[in-house]
Amino acid sequence: MCAVKDPVVIHKGLDNVYVKESKICFIDGEASKLFYRGYSIEALASHSTFEETTYLLIYGSLPTRSQLEDFTKRISLYRSLETSLLQLIHSFPITSDPMDVLRTAVSALGLYDPQPASDRIEDRIDKALRIMAKAPTIVAAFDRLRNGREPMPPRTELSHAADFLQMLIGKTPGDYDAHIMDVAMILHAEHEMNASTFSCTVTASTLADMYSIITSGIGTLRGPLHGGANEAALKTVLDVGDPSKADEYVVRALAEKKRIMGFGHRVYKTWDPRYVILKKLGAELAAQKGETKLFETATAIEESALRHLAGSPIFPNVDSYSGIVFHTLGIPTDLFIPVFAMSRIAGWTAHAIEYLQANRLIRPKALYVGQKELPYVPIDSRQE
Ligand code: SDX
Repeated sequence: MCAVKDPVVIHKGLDNVYVKESKICFIDGEASKLFYRGYSIEALASHSTFEETTYLLIYGSLPTRSQLEDFTKRISLYRSLETSLLQLIHSFPITSDPMDVLRTAVSALGLYDPQPASDRIEDRIDKALRIMAKAPTIVAAFDRLRNGREPMPPRTELSHAADFLQMLIGKTPGDYDAHIMDVAMILHAEHEMNASTFSCTVTASTLADMYSIITSGIGTLRGPLHGGANEAALKTVLDVGDPSKADEYVVRALAEKKRIMGFGHRVYKTWDPRYVILKKLGAELAAQKGETKLFETATAIEESALRHLAGSPIFPNVDSYSGIVFHTLGIPTDLFIPVFAMSRIAGWTAHAIEYLQANRLIRPKALYVGQKELPYVPIDSRQE
C-alpha cells in the first residue's frame, strides 16, 4: 500500500508560509504594529540607539549599562578597514554601484579572516559584528574615493550613526542629524522574514560562513521590490518635482499599472508603523533645514495615491519617506540601499543565529510539469 501522497500546494512567493518559530520580531500587519524582541518600534525609536537595538536583536534582551558600554566599544573598534581592503575598494571603477561595492567588499572581508568559518555561535556573532561595524566605513570610503577625496578614518568616540555621517560628509555631524540617522538605522535594522532575511536564513541553513550569509542578504536587498524602493521612491518625488504635479503623476502611473514606489507591502495591509515615524522625522528635518518642497511633494503624492487606491490594502511603507530623510541628511541617493543594508545586518545576523540554534537545511520542492522519458536526438538529426 503506497503512502498517501500529500496534495501538492504551490505557495507562489511563499505567501503565508512559516519557516521557523522566532522570538526576534513580531509584525501585526492589520494593526500597524512592529515589535523587536517584544519592544515596540515606537519605544525603541524614542529611547534606544542602534547599538542597543542591535544588542537586543542578537542577544534577546536589553543590555545593562556595562554590557552596552562594552558592546558599543567593541563595534567602534571594529570599524576600521585593513589597508589592503581600502586599496581594493580604491581599485573599483568609480562608476560602480555602491551596493555592488558593499557586496564585494563584505565578501572580500572574509579573505582577511584567518578563520572565516566557525560553528561556535559567539564566533559567528563576532564575525557578523565586524561586518556590521565595517559596512558604514566601506560605504563612506567608496563615496569619498569616487569623488576624488581621501577616505575619512572612523572615530571610535562617535556613535555608529554619527561616525558614518562624519566619514561620509567629512565633518562631525550635529547632534540632531546624528540622532535622526540613529533612529533611521533602528527602523531599518529588522523586519521578520523579509526576502533578504530569508536569503540569509537559507544560506545559514547550509552551515555556510557569516561572510557568505551576509553577502546573500546584500544581494537580495538590492532589488527595487525590496530594499531598492527607497531610492526609487525619492527619484519619483524628484521627477514629480512639485506638489501640484503629484496627482497627474499618480493617475498616469496607476493607469499604466506601474507600482508607486514606497507603497504596498506583503505583510502590512494598513500603515507601516516605520512610515509614520519616518514621515514625522522627514517633516522635522525639512523644517529645520528649510528644505520643505521635497517633503511637500512627497506628501502630495501620498495623499493622491491614498485617494486613488482607497479601498485597497495599499498604504505607504518604510520606503516612502526614508529617502527624503537620507537625502536631507546629505546622503547621495545611490547610497540609500547600502544604508538600509548596513542597518539590516543586525536583523540578518539575529535570524541566522536563531535558525542555527535548531538548524534544518532549507530545501523546498518544485512541482515538475515538463516532459519525461524523451529519446536522446543526435545533433545531426535535430531540425534547425
Ligand atoms: C520593503 O517584506 C518586508 O518586510 C520588506 C521590508 C523590510 O523591512 O524588509 O518591509 C522592506 O521591501 C518594503 C517594500 C518596498 N517596495 C516597494 O515600495 C515597491 C512597491 N511595492 C510593491 O511592489 C508591492 O507592494 C510589494 C512587492 C512590496 C508587495 O506586493 P505583494 O504583496 O507581492 O502584492 P502584489 O505584488 O501581488 O500586488 C497586489 C496588487 C497588484 O494589483 P493587481 O495585479 O492584483 O491588479 O496590488 C498592486 C499590484 O499591482 N500593488 C500596487 C502596489 N503594490 C501592490 N499598485 C500600485 N503601487 C504599488 N506600490
